[in-house]
Amino acid sequence: MAKGAAVFVCQACGAAASKWAGRCADCGGWNTLAQEAASAPGSALAAARKSKAPAAAFETLAAREEERARFTSGMPEFDRAIGGGFTPGSAILVGGDPGIGKSTLLMQIAAAAADAGRAAVYVSGEEATQQLRLRAARLGVDKSPVRVAAETGVAAIFAALDGAPPPDLLIIDSIQTLWSDVIDSAPGTVSQVRASAQALVSYAKKRGSAVILVGHVTKDGQIAGPKVIEHMVDTVLYFDGGDAQDFRLLRAMKNRFGPANEIGVFEMRGDGLRGVANPSELFLSGREANAPGAAVFAGVEGSRPLLVEIQALVAPSPFAAPRRAAVGWDLTRLAMILAVLDARCGVRLGQHDVYLNVAGGLKIAEPAADLAVAAALISAIAGEPLPPTCVYFGEVSLSGAVRQVGQTALRLKEAAKLGFNAAVIPGAGDAPPAEKGFKLSRIKTLRELEPHLMRAAVKRSRERAADDRLE
Ligand code: TYD
Ligand code: MG
Repeated sequence: MAKGAAVFVCQACGAAASKWAGRCADCGGWNTLAQEAASAPGSALAAARKSKAPAAAFETLAAREEERARFTSGMPEFDRAIGGGFTPGSAILVGGDPGIGKSTLLMQIAAAAADAGRAAVYVSGEEATQQLRLRAARLGVDKSPVRVAAETGVAAIFAALDGAPPPDLLIIDSIQTLWSDVIDSAPGTVSQVRASAQALVSYAKKRGSAVILVGHVTKDGQIAGPKVIEHMVDTVLYFDGGDAQDFRLLRAMKNRFGPANEIGVFEMRGDGLRGVANPSELFLSGREANAPGAAVFAGVEGSRPLLVEIQALVAPSPFAAPRRAAVGWDLTRLAMILAVLDARCGVRLGQHDVYLNVAGGLKIAEPAADLAVAAALISAIAGEPLPPTCVYFGEVSLSGAVRQVGQTALRLKEAAKLGFNAAVIPGAGDAPPAEKGFKLSRIKTLRELEPHLMRAAVKRSRERAADDRLE
């Protein structure tokens, strides 16, 4: 390539190309290539050697460092998600769909921090101060000494902040509305978002404020623009919820100051968000324990056990290619369980529609749910309920073996706490500590799962196949 020629760099994955193309050849992203000036190899090093910048100071790792005291957000569920309260000088990104309740959550947090004597600033680029006041009144926090501003200019925000001691908590709602006049593009574009976020993150590091940036999520579920700010901040939280339900999950996707995948659970009420201390109760409420096709999965999200009901419905299909649908679970994983049931257990569902639903609108990604899914399917085909006070967990492999999963003791403890008294779990590994009065069935293969239901399921699935041949 000629020296100094332009290159086209994918804004999503960083791959370089010599020609523009509609689609990145590396990551397959559409419309992600942007022109950047190329520098000849080695020239950056040569330029750096000539520069008069002061030398970087090397230090040792051994020096003692005082850990800065964290401070609480005033909402225990939020503290849990960020790993135990705010770390001064950190930047947090809160992403989520529009209308999910980000502004509500952050207004409550700002108010709680202000009530606890912290200096809290809430800058909204989306709403006028009247709207903020109306929301605060609705949330019952209008007396809290939060300083609010409706502003979108980064320079104006810093001008207001620079004259005074830095706030403990600075909330920016949202990063997409900000614009910085050093960048020559419209608010919401990748370069504006990146520049504004960079400025705010360095403010946090230099002045010691905890900064929260709100980010809207694009159609494909990324915090706009494509991952550009996730790596700049210390913590990425994702605020999510079931479509019809009133509960909301705040999940840590990345956290430099605590474990990732930790969740906080909230309920949206008329007067704002309320933390849910025992989410299993919420997810199991309204359960019909004696319905066929329902199995309770003892899951773990982050460090927290969570019991949810998995529901399956199996019906003879009028179509040549039967339907498979899953809500809250991976469709590929469902297809795999169906194939294992067919090949290893003789349960034929090739002519049945299969629907799977995780109750409460929760999304489960743990492979440990395999066994609960299989149990729900078996019970649905057999047309008989599973034991109502039993929980299930374990990973199912393609051979039909039930494999060990982590956190067994934690799962069992939560089940016992919520009144369950039996569990079907993987047979391999050491026996877990027994909860009092708890019946453990340890199974090595899927075939050992509820033998009487398994037999009924095999029979029923074959009856249907035979009917079809007769027709
Ligand atoms: P909002 O915080 O504005 O969402 P976001 O900032 O993520 O776009 O929340 C909007 C929704 O929350 C709106 O549909 C109304 C609902 N809501 C309540 O149910 N109770 C409340 O107390 C408040 C303030 C909002
Ligand atoms: Mg909002």
